[in-house]
Amino acid sequence: MSLLGIRGSFFDFIDDPWKHVGAESEAARFLADGLLVVEDGIIRAFGPFADVSPAYADIEVRHFPDRLILPGFIDGHIHFPQTRMLGSYGEQLLPWLKKWVIPEELRYKDPAYAREGAARFFDALLASGTTTCQAFTTASPVSTEAFFEEASRRNVRVIAGLTGIDKNVPEDFTDTPENFYADSTRLIARYHRNGRNLYAITPRFALGASEALMSACERLKLEHPDCWVNTHISENPAECRGVMELFPDCPDYLAVYESYGLVGPKFSGGHGVWLSDGEFRRLSQAGAALTFCPCSNLFLGSGLFRLGRATDPEHRVRLSFGSDIGGGNRFSMLNVLDDAYKVGMCNATLLDGSVDPARRDPAEAERNKLSPYRAFWSITLGGAEGLYIDDMLGNFEPGKEADFVVLDWNGGPAALPWRQSMVLEGKRPHSMEEAAGLLFGLMTVADERAVDETWVMGRRLYKRA
Ligand code: GUN
Ligand code: ZN
Repeated sequence: MSLLGIRGSFFDFIDDPWKHVGAESEAARFLADGLLVVEDGIIRAFGPFADVSPAYADIEVRHFPDRLILPGFIDGHIHFPQTRMLGSYGEQLLPWLKKWVIPEELRYKDPAYAREGAARFFDALLASGTTTCQAFTTASPVSTEAFFEEASRRNVRVIAGLTGIDKNVPEDFTDTPENFYADSTRLIARYHRNGRNLYAITPRFALGASEALMSACERLKLEHPDCWVNTHISENPAECRGVMELFPDCPDYLAVYESYGLVGPKFSGGHGVWLSDGEFRRLSQAGAALTFCPCSNLFLGSGLFRLGRATDPEHRVRLSFGSDIGGGNRFSMLNVLDDAYKVGMCNATLLDGSVDPARRDPAEAERNKLSPYRAFWSITLGGAEGLYIDDMLGNFEPGKEADFVVLDWNGGPAALPWRQSMVLEGKRPHSMEEAAGLLFGLMTVADERAVDETWVMGRRLYKRA
């Protein structure tokens, strides 16, 4: 048995801030001087230092007096084999896949390249404060194995799966539905719930799937109902048109996945930029999730995700936020929040009636405003709820896994410390509002330089140089 105490200022969430319009801080929890007690990687106790410490008088305590400690960030949609092609120039989704993604992902058939890619991926992830991700691999099982092996070595909780594609790309990039089914079955047996690994049945997207590949996914989900399902949906207009031609019997994009029994709890559709109101409603009723990937949607020019529509209490859709590396150009979830905030502000303008009076909707405009509460909930507890892993992690509740990030609120560009001094009364935050003000500064002005340390299952895996 190993016990360790972490002392410092803690910020986490106990509820969804979109349920507390006008009083969002009620969804959050801030301890100016708290103690987190970790036993064998699991949180045993959490609360104000003065209350918790007497019962743990003899344990080793690490003290972080000038830091904010948050649950580790969750990236709900990322492509591990696209780590090297960050910032690939000049194309929208479909030509970008052809020009940049396919040549790079083909390299992951080579076990040595796949191992190096996986190691570099996790280095970048942890340096960004991200402790859990849901990842795409490639159509080659070599890459999927390399990913799970590296995740296991570091004991990081991940969701991932062999990424099926058998249409609309060159033949050497495809797999057959039979191979996909057989390899997925083998990989599920080997990795699903082995250590912290979780398996997602992963059709890459409907535009790359034959009916036979979709049927293989349906069969896998029926045979392994405990597995996750991860894919893309309604990212780009040309992609959406192509899907409607490929599946003419389906009235819309979501109906493709529905007709193969994939849409329910533990389903994640990346992007959802062009979904109809009816599709939002059906996702909500099914308990399925979308992943908001603003860096990617801006970088590839895909469009503006309607955050205020997805969070409509009448048909609330579960959400996680994702970097979508390398469609997204930043690993840091702080940068994802930065772009999400800007997308929300643009949506709010479109909904204030000044562009089109018929679209005026002040309540939806308000739901697009990404306050620091909504933002950091979305990449911690909210992301965990979207991925159905909030029973394991997402906040500092005892019994959960001790994944957390130690943030330096002055870490970032030269202009940051003076900006942060605007919201700090003393040397460190003493109120929830001060802490939230610092976090908003981090998400809009900083980047991964703010990450001082990243801890996974009570072990430090990253320390800033
Ligand atoms: N749709 C299918 N494959 C991909 C991919 O690799 N990235 C993004 N952004 N969308 C996709
Ligand atoms: Zn993607």
